[in-house]
Amino acid sequence: MQQLTGKKIILGVSGSIAAYKAVLLTRLLVQAGAEVQVLLTPAATHFVTPLTFSTLSKRPVFTEVTSDEGWNNHVELGLWADALVVAPATANTLAKLANGICDNIIAAVYLSARCPVFVAPAMDVDMWHHPSTQANVQRLLAYGNHLIPVGEGELASGLHGAGRLAEPEHITTALAAYFDRQSDLKGQKILITAGPTYEAIDPVRFLGNRSSGKMGVALAEAICARGGEVVLVLGPSALRPQMPGLEVVRVESAQEMYTAALAAFPQCHTAILAAAVADYRPATAAAEKIKKKGDTLTLELVKNPDIAAALGQQKQPHQRLVGFALETHEGEAHAREKLRRKHLDFIVLNTLQDSGAGFAVDTNKVTIFGADNKVHYFELKSKQAVAQDIINTTLVSAT
Ligand code: CTP
Repeated sequence: MQQLTGKKIILGVSGSIAAYKAVLLTRLLVQAGAEVQVLLTPAATHFVTPLTFSTLSKRPVFTEVTSDEGWNNHVELGLWADALVVAPATANTLAKLANGICDNIIAAVYLSARCPVFVAPAMDVDMWHHPSTQANVQRLLAYGNHLIPVGEGELASGLHGAGRLAEPEHITTALAAYFDRQSDLKGQKILITAGPTYEAIDPVRFLGNRSSGKMGVALAEAICARGGEVVLVLGPSALRPQMPGLEVVRVESAQEMYTAALAAFPQCHTAILAAAVADYRPATAAAEKIKKKGDTLTLELVKNPDIAAALGQQKQPHQRLVGFALETHEGEAHAREKLRRKHLDFIVLNTLQDSGAGFAVDTNKVTIFGADNKVHYFELKSKQAVAQDIINTTLVSAT
């Protein structure tokens, strides 16, 4: 089966005896339909030859950033690829990638790549278990790279243990599974509200809140990365998301967000309401800056429209609504009550009592309640990882 049809894959081979397995990997990737660009470090050329790879991949192989043929453009390569796979990744290569050292073509392409990066380490058991290597692996994972775990067994040194390069078949399957997940939301159009709202008091002042928009933007980016289309109605946030499939509608007030969300919803399959919408706004916004006068100032506030509740009223049978509840106490009871009152299909609860959860931080801890009474509990994670959990629970398993 051609699981990687049309995918552009850079295979970076570093200097390990396991480099011989990269020959078979090249063959499997090509058979799966991928275009494969092989890069070898100078050390790798001691184990395998460029000619072997160029014959299998039907493309020239690069071993240096500059060569007799000229400058091998690592920036262009980094932009061309759908994935960069470093297999085998030696302890030395892991250390370079983890620390931004850029003295060979693989490291240069790695730093320029905008595509997902997979590292498949290979080394002797003691090198693999060394705290330096483990720290480098953790750092690479923290940067968002993917690890293709080492295997256990007999090593080239004669020792037994962890450190074998994953089998080429396994690496190919891991890549195919990754790309499969990338397109599982193709054909779905999703409305997301995110960020705070600003409610004008006068031309220079407003009532706002501490929402950063990070959770909603993480959701929008994750959905687009998985092939979905997103209309992101974004309040005043410092974030400027941009990616294929993402349409951003910038708004300021709750009323503007309401108008934009109601206009977009009929064309969408699902709405995810991650915005922290102000419940009230000043009854009138003064046309001129309010001057300081008495010791107190009273503002009259009027209720804003509830976007979630309005969409809940309009929802058609094929449409789904996902709300958020940020609570300081009795989270579960409040979340379930909002789920019912606003006719939501799911509500994502985060409580400010959980350290690391809530506004303006990069992590979140959520529990998702379904209208079907199912409850899904999750650990504290990065907002990107939480976005995947929310998508898997509310968009994928629910279809
Ligand atoms: N929401 C909305 N429009 C509003 C208020 C809230 O769309 N005017 C959405 C939020 O984006 C969130 C859900 O409704 O998905 C719950 O928001 P929350 O502020 O917790 O609900 P409220 O009904 O305002 O309840 P509370 O009394 O706790 O403020």
